[in-house]
Amino acid sequence: MIKILTLILISLSFNTQSADTPMPEAHFVGYTACISCHENEVTQWQTSHHNKAMQHADETNVLGDFNQSVFKNYGLMTTFYKKYTDKGTQFWVQTDGPDGKLQDYPIKYTFGVYPLQQYLIEFPGGRLQALDIAWDSRSKEQGGQRWYHLHPNEKITSNDVLHWTGPNMNWNYMCAFCHSTNLDKNYNSETDTYKTSWSEINVSCEACHGPASQHLLWAEKSQKDNNQFKTVPLKAMGLLNQLDERKEIQWSIEQNKHTILILKN
Ligand code: HEC
Ligand code: HEC
Ligand code: HEC
Repeated sequence: MIKILTLILISLSFNTQSADTPMPEAHFVGYTACISCHENEVTQWQTSHHNKAMQHADETNVLGDFNQSVFKNYGLMTTFYKKYTDKGTQFWVQTDGPDGKLQDYPIKYTFGVYPLQQYLIEFPGGRLQALDIAWDSRSKEQGGQRWYHLHPNEKITSNDVLHWTGPNMNWNYMCAFCHSTNLDKNYNSETDTYKTSWSEINVSCEACHGPASQHLLWAEKSQKDNNQFKTVPLKAMGLLNQLDERKEIQWSIEQNKHTILILKN
């Protein structure tokens, strides 16, 4: 009964807010919009792995050894190396391409950070492929700081579906939606191409809390109304997702949109 009552109260307070100015549909605003009021959460998030779920590969975030490092696996010699350009250091790999022959590829993005880091390489049709030779980023003492193959016990040739250039290691289809915020796969079946997009490259605030534009409106309005913050129920704060395990709430991720559906509250 109490729950029903709360729900009615929540929807009432929402309605009062939207009576004079109708609430626009929520859209994604990005983490920079949160700094002014949630500095602590932003600082914590910035040092978290969520912030590093996917990054443009550069000297600050590539952990692997790209100093002419050679990794041998079932007769295949893969070489990781660097090129120095005006725009900074580029990271390259020479390994077997879709036709099984050795080819040179620039590393576009890092993927993940610990205990392993993977690397994404650009292919035609808007595709990114995840290399299946990963960097073990654990310390030397823990057996890390080395390249290793994700399928160490089988030889995977280029015509195998498990090959890194194949569908199983295709980022757009297999990985993207969990590692970035507000991801849209944008697959065109007629041309068999992707125009995959995100609002933020990594797992940012709104990947979990939902698009926050209405929350910003609410917060600005409340500040003007002498900070009537804390008594307001969450939904009325313009936040779409209530994430509080202590209240026995469960949530799941909606496949295509990567917003979170609340199952029970
Ligand atoms: C103008 C200030 C302001 C901005 C900007 C702001 N918030 Fe808030 N937010 C608040 C206030 C006030 C609360 C109420 C709780 C409190 O007192 O901390 C709150 C609460 C929250 C909560 C907690 C709800 C709960 O469980 O109690 C989340 C999550 C949140 N904000 C996310 C965000 C995100 C994500 C952004 C950036 C997109 C953001 N906020 C931007 C003021 C702001
Ligand atoms: C269903 C969501 C989901 C999908 C799909 C997904 N990941 Fe992840 N990935 C995660 C989460 C969550 C973590 C953090 C795991 C942890 O810290 O324990 C993670 C972490 C990682 C890491 C860091 C190492 C680690 O184990 O923490 C790498 C590398 C990675 N993922 C690669 C990939 C690749 C490559 C794909 C696609 C082939 C992929 N992921 C697909 C959710 C996903
Ligand atoms: C991986 C998911 C995830 C990401 C990313 C994330 N949060 Fe949260 N956040 C949560 C969860 C879950 C809670 C609820 C914790 C609880 O109450 O147990 C929470 C709680 C909060 C709260 C309420 C205060 C508190 O500490 O309980 C605020 C404010 C907040 N987050 C803001 C942010 C901001 C700002 C960002 C981005 C810089 C962010 N969050 C990124 C999942 C996330």
